[in-house]
Amino acid sequence: MKAYALERYGAPLTVHDLPEPIAGPGQVVVEIDASSVNPLDEKLRTGAFKAILHYDMPLVLGHDLAGIVVAVGEGVRRWQVGDRVFACVGGDRIGTFAERIAVAEADLAPLPANLDPSAAAALPLVSLTAWQVLVERAKVRAGQRVLIHAGSGGVGTMAIQLAKHLGAYVATTVGTANVALARDLGADEVIDYRQEPFEERLSGYDMVLDTRGGDVTTKSLGVLKPGGMLVSIVGPPDPAFARTIGANWMVRQVIRLGSFSIRRKARARGIEYGFLFMRPDGGHLAEIGKLVEAGALRPIIDREFVFEDTPAALERSASGRARGKVVIRRTVDA
Ligand SMILES: NC(=O)c1ccc[n+]([C@@H]2O[C@H](COP(=O)([O-])OP(=O)(O)OC[C@H]3O[C@@H](n4cnc5c(N)ncnc54)[C@H](OP(=O)(O)O)[C@@H]3O)[C@@H](O)[C@H]2O)c1
Repeated sequence: MKAYALERYGAPLTVHDLPEPIAGPGQVVVEIDASSVNPLDEKLRTGAFKAILHYDMPLVLGHDLAGIVVAVGEGVRRWQVGDRVFACVGGDRIGTFAERIAVAEADLAPLPANLDPSAAAALPLVSLTAWQVLVERAKVRAGQRVLIHAGSGGVGTMAIQLAKHLGAYVATTVGTANVALARDLGADEVIDYRQEPFEERLSGYDMVLDTRGGDVTTKSLGVLKPGGMLVSIVGPPDPAFARTIGANWMVRQVIRLGSFSIRRKARARGIEYGFLFMRPDGGHLAEIGKLVEAGALRPIIDREFVFEDTPAALERSASGRARGKVVIRRTVDA
């Protein structure tokens, strides 16, 4: 089958002819109709994560998929050939920039009835991230004040809608060209980061979702009230994260030192700091699918590329300017 892969870190993504995937126990093979690109794909290509994530080469990139089940492995109970599904795959099982992939049955959810494959493929990784930050970690409740950075990005477009669905008052930072989009998604307060420092406008917030890192992380502390929570998805990773990935002693020390300053500053203000790395979860994705069917969440698509233009799709995402998701569509009429 055809797949877009790299032969070594830093190398460009090129088309490869690879062996057909086989459904092992507890797995299904999915014929991929559409996929989407995440900044993580470019970070993996450059080797930025090679100290903590280990992959064999050639490495097929891609975490998101929408498609149809074409084979089921031993012990699979929930899926049958012909089921329409969507999923985020993770760990050492990535590779959705391909014609087919073997996926753990627990990672899959039914395709929302009101979406075509391109729209569904725009959702998994970013909506699971928003869900795991806002619902699972921060337990956002109605009436709370939530700041979401980069509300026009893949994660931000989902997080604004989900936080509004949870009943929060939502502020977001976006560039000038994306102010209208953020309002349309339901944000109550929209700050153009090119015109105004968010930390001068906002205060007394319950929660911040940090999608930017660096200065934005530190400045976000000033927006939160004591007892508030800062969750970063870009770092620095904290010791709790090091434990979840089973990091060795050396990596644990690097992570502890790397997050020491932000953890100390947060503690001094009575704020909880945490790093979150999303994980595939078909159960969470099924909940998200129901919200999509109910009209509470909708995917935002920046641009759609055909499968043969996968390298260009990766480049568009890596530009950092995408508004919503960059989608890759395999079939013309799925
Ligand atoms: N830990 C995890 O599990 C996890 C999961 C998902 C994503 N991430 C990470 O989170 C980050 C965001 O992911 P994403 O998919 O949302 O990225 P993305 O879609 O590539 O974000 C692009 C958007 O960010 C906006 N932006 C750029 N600089 C900004 C700034 N200073 N303030 C506000 N908005 C700004 C851009 O708007 P303009 O063009 O107007 O600037 C653009 O719309 C990435 O680094 C990604 O790797 C981590």
